Amino acid sequence: MSSFQTLADLKSFCLERLAKAVGNLSDPMRTPVLGNVGEEQAELRTIVLRDVDVEQGALLAYSDWRAPKVRQLLKAPQGTWLFYDPSDQTQFRIGTRIEILHRNDYTCEVWKELPESNRGNYLTTLPPGRMQAADVSVEYSEEMKDGSQFAILRATIHTIESLQLAKDGNHQRWLADLDRGSLLRLVP
Ligand SMILES: Cc1cc2nc3c(=O)[nH]c(=O)nc-3n(C[C@H](O)[C@H](O)[C@H](O)COP(=O)(O)O)c2cc1C
Repeated sequence: MSSFQTLADLKSFCLERLAKAVGNLSDPMRTPVLGNVGEEQAELRTIVLRDVDVEQGALLAYSDWRAPKVRQLLKAPQGTWLFYDPSDQTQFRIGTRIEILHRNDYTCEVWKELPESNRGNYLTTLPPGRMQAADVSVEYSEEMKDGSQFAILRATIHTIESLQLAKDGNHQRWLADLDRGSLLRLVP
């Protein structure tokens, strides 16, 4: 059960835990829920955590440029990430602002390294979420093999809330505000 002396302690506890989850298929923190502000309501979905920039304090994920979440985040870039590990009952709620990277040197570099099996996610002829005939297979486009629909979500972290539940009831809830440079202990 962690108690923190400084904001830096909480930040490294959280980001190092998340960095460990990247690439580990069985780690529950690899697949957080990403929430954002939609047109009419809150939007939530599972997403794969692809990288953690521990130095800069950022989370990275991939998506299709045409996905509804991308349109929503371009309008309202606030994104909240929810991570939970049931093995030690640790939850992180991370408040971010998300920038969409698309068709730049970085996205091209990542696209080149992306395994063939993952590329299919960004190659559908129709945009993700579009209605399609029930009896027709999903169609993939040759044209998009250049990675033109591949986008990276880069989420700069502003707040980290860590909650750890303990069997003895000594739950620990802490809030770091990276912009203000403050660390607060909260009633769990
Ligand atoms: C285990 C799992 C992992 C997922 N990973 C991603 C991901 O990395 N990127 C992504 O865009 N969608 C991912 N999805 C799909 C999203 O949850 C969501 O259904 C889809 O992106 C549509 O979201 P949107 O309509 O809000 O854009 C994943 C779904 C599951 C079940």
